[in-house]
Amino acid sequence: MPAKTILITGGAGFIGSHLVRLMVNNHPDYRIINLDKLTYAGNLANLKDIENKPNYRFVRMDICDFEGVLELLRSEKVDGIIHLAAESHVDRSIKDPFTFARTNVLGTLSLLQAARLYWESLPEKYEGKRFYHISTDEVYGSLRLTHPEGIEPPFSTTASSGTHHLAYGEEFFREENKYTPHSPYSASKASSDHFVRAFHDTYGMPTIVTNCSNNYGPYQFPEKLIPLFINNIRHRKPLPVYGRGENVRDWLYVEDHARAIDLIFHKGEIAETYNIGGFNEWKNIDIVRLLIRTVDRLLGRGEDEDMNLISYVTDRPGHDERYAIDSSKLQKELGWEPSLQFEEGLEKTVRWYLENQDWLDNVTSGDYMNYYEQMYSQR
Ligand code: NAD
Ligand code: TYD
Repeated sequence: MPAKTILITGGAGFIGSHLVRLMVNNHPDYRIINLDKLTYAGNLANLKDIENKPNYRFVRMDICDFEGVLELLRSEKVDGIIHLAAESHVDRSIKDPFTFARTNVLGTLSLLQAARLYWESLPEKYEGKRFYHISTDEVYGSLRLTHPEGIEPPFSTTASSGTHHLAYGEEFFREENKYTPHSPYSASKASSDHFVRAFHDTYGMPTIVTNCSNNYGPYQFPEKLIPLFINNIRHRKPLPVYGRGENVRDWLYVEDHARAIDLIFHKGEIAETYNIGGFNEWKNIDIVRLLIRTVDRLLGRGEDEDMNLISYVTDRPGHDERYAIDSSKLQKELGWEPSLQFEEGLEKTVRWYLENQDWLDNVTSGDYMNYYEQMYSQR
């Protein structure tokens, strides 16, 4: 009997695939079930290396399929749920907010309700069970780009954990901050976070919520800034920088996020919220310049040869100015810390995309969508 059966939703996506790989490899005594609808963002090729492991199973299902999910929880005797399935791209949410409300809000509610019905039907009820919801720092809204008198940002500041780092403003997202989402994406995630907490407060479900900053690394869908721009630099296509490129994001290497999730799933306190971030703020334009330098160097092109690809375009509506996570609580209480410096992580990421051009080409051509039919339809 495996020690635990864990359902991971959205495991074929960017962060989910890193988490599934880590859980399957680190916990051979657990059974890991990856439930994913395989939307445009789901790609089973992300999990090629572990798809035949005995403690792994893939199930193609929509989190909104209440009956299907309930039956799966019962038949697999699921003890823990780590919920990542979501629509995740802000620009898509601006064009099509309903899909975000359907999956992120109603889908999360449906999953919570199925978990409640199943766990409450057991003699032990919620004992040993856990519903862990993965959310974003974007629910906190936007911070101002400010600087102390006479000092140009980024300036050095001290987090509540005592760590020194560079920042573009004096405020940070802390767990107790109020939610002020601005995009349909962040509004849908905020709503799902509230439902998760309501299921703890109303039914006693053992829930945890974490809010993480922007992730980067291998297997990210090339509609997000970093993989999109690496691919465009490779093909010498324009790099559409929104506004003046002055917006600030706080970046974390995806494997550091996956390690934090594993730690919090096992050691986090029920009903708590933890912010996850690496105190790593960057202006978009500085990242874009660093990406151009790194890609050009690795492809043996001349220094700064592709700087002219930068193309300033109309700003994203409601574009949040600055995100900055204070992850002191996680660092102090559970001892987590990021393992990579950004420059190191970004170089590793650029190398991965350049060495895995087949993956990028399969995704950009749409061929990846056939992987499920080829690999799973005969099983
Ligand atoms: P992603 O878009 O790469 O992957 C999402 C996955 O969910 C895909 O595999 C997709 O097929 C699946 N999915 C979508 N709708 C579904 C549905 N109705 N039923 C079942 N599966 C469905 O997203 P990501 O970047 O890996 O983000 C994963 C989670 O982490 C999301 O909840 C997101 O809000 C959160 N998050 C992301 C970041 C980031 O920087 N990417 C940062 C903080 C939090
Ligand atoms: P993105 O990767 O979409 O993540 P998020 O919106 O969740 O932070 O965008 C990161 C930053 O890069 C954000 O400030 C918007 C900006 N951006 C561009 O300037 N151009 C682009 O083509 C994209 C996709 C993003």
